[in-house]
Amino acid sequence: MTKHANDRALRFYHHVLGLERLHYGLWQPEDELSLANLKEAQKRYEDLLIDQMPSQVCTIVDVGCGTGVLLARLKEMGFQAEGVTPDLHQQQVMQAKGLGPVHGCRFEEFAPQIAYDCVIMSESAQYIPLAQLFVKVKEALRPGGFLMVCDYFVLNDVRGIMAKSGHNYEGFLAAAQKEGFRLVKSRDITREVLKTLDLAKTTAEKIQLAVEIGTEKFRDRHPLWTRLIQFLLRKKYRRLQEEKILIDAGEFAKTKTYQFLLFEREGGAGESS
Ligand SMILES: C[S@@+](CC[C@H](N)C(=O)[O-])C[C@H]1O[C@@H](n2cnc3c(N)ncnc32)[C@H](O)[C@@H]1O
Repeated sequence: MTKHANDRALRFYHHVLGLERLHYGLWQPEDELSLANLKEAQKRYEDLLIDQMPSQVCTIVDVGCGTGVLLARLKEMGFQAEGVTPDLHQQQVMQAKGLGPVHGCRFEEFAPQIAYDCVIMSESAQYIPLAQLFVKVKEALRPGGFLMVCDYFVLNDVRGIMAKSGHNYEGFLAAAQKEGFRLVKSRDITREVLKTLDLAKTTAEKIQLAVEIGTEKFRDRHPLWTRLIQFLLRKKYRRLQEEKILIDAGEFAKTKTYQFLLFEREGGAGESS
């Protein structure tokens, strides 16, 4: 397997928060903010992907398969499913679970050996440059095959930090059409994912409070050292303050859209041109 940098954020979710799944999840209006409910929401999201799988699909490649939870479910259901992830830690977790084949590379470098019926990108499309995404999917997918994307996208005219992650939504749909992918199903799930951000925000605030309480004695006893440390860490602190907006549900809802999208690649048998 190719060695790539481990993704620290994803390792934090997995090891510190104990999350097996690495996506936002689908919350119900009545759900209270808790880790247990996040786990349920994540499973509900996965159920949506499975429920929407077209009946003609047998072979699947899960691009950016995380720690392989969806992959394991698909295999149990009888699909011939493979994973792609560049993340070394995730590759090791998959190996330990006996989940294979797993291709240890970025999707851009993936060399498919078969033409799959379906390519899944569950919160991974945002990591793949648009210029390569559909071209590569065409290499991996048989004509008439399906591309299932579930991810957040940036709305038009959004600039700055909120535009840094996620493809532009209209640009993504236009690229799909240009490359010969017909949108056959879609569902806007923005409202249903927001509680994950609320939970992230309350957790971050609690961690900050814990650090403040934990360092209180030191700060009282060593005001000079405290000022020096604050000075040395000022840029990091400023960046953290700026990045707080990334876990603000209101900002997310104003600037992004979270979509379930199912595309069919043109050229399938029986399709009228
Ligand atoms: C947010 S996680 C989602 C994981 C999983 N699909 C899920 O829904 O829980 C993003 C995944 O995309 C993978 N990834 C990042 N860049 C990638 C790339 N260029 N090609 C393929 N996968 C990539 C990450 O390693 C990770 O597995």
